Amino acid sequence: MKILVINGPNINLLGIREPKIYGNRSYSDLLSHIKNEAEKLDVEVEFYQSNHEGDLVDAIQSALGRIDGIIINPAAYAHSSIAILDALKAVDLPTIEVHLSNPGIREEFRHVSITRRACLKSICGRGFEGYIEALHILTDKEPAVSEK
Ligand code: DQA
Repeated sequence: MKILVINGPNINLLGIREPKIYGNRSYSDLLSHIKNEAEKLDVEVEFYQSNHEGDLVDAIQSALGRIDGIIINPAAYAHSSIAILDALKAVDLPTIEVHLSNPGIREEFRHVSITRRACLKSICGRGFEGYIEALHILTDKEPAVSEK
């Protein structure tokens, strides 16, 4: 089984950007955290991050025929991108949306997720653990006890 983990704009600046909201750990810490859990679950993971909407669409399309599920944090594009929504619908793979913070309790412009409509579930406000929960859902294993 192979899972594609996609992160959108500014997620590469984790640890630097707004640490009160997103924490002190870096993007590479996030990848190690996910990789570690994937090894335990015996699942292959591929990572992709971009700050560009079209590149994210290309990454989603690249999943066709070779990926079993997608974990996506579209970041700000969750609130605006019909193109990413359409790409997710087009490939029609089991997809979980993850947000590190909980956009639902932040500024009003973050309250709607357009991309969520193509996802089985949206996990918000659980930090790095949101990605782990998503991995468990896609691999159909019991969720691990939260480390938080
Ligand atoms: C985010 C939430 C979005 O509203 C924001 O634009 C991000 C990060 C999150 O992971 O909490 O860049 O997706």
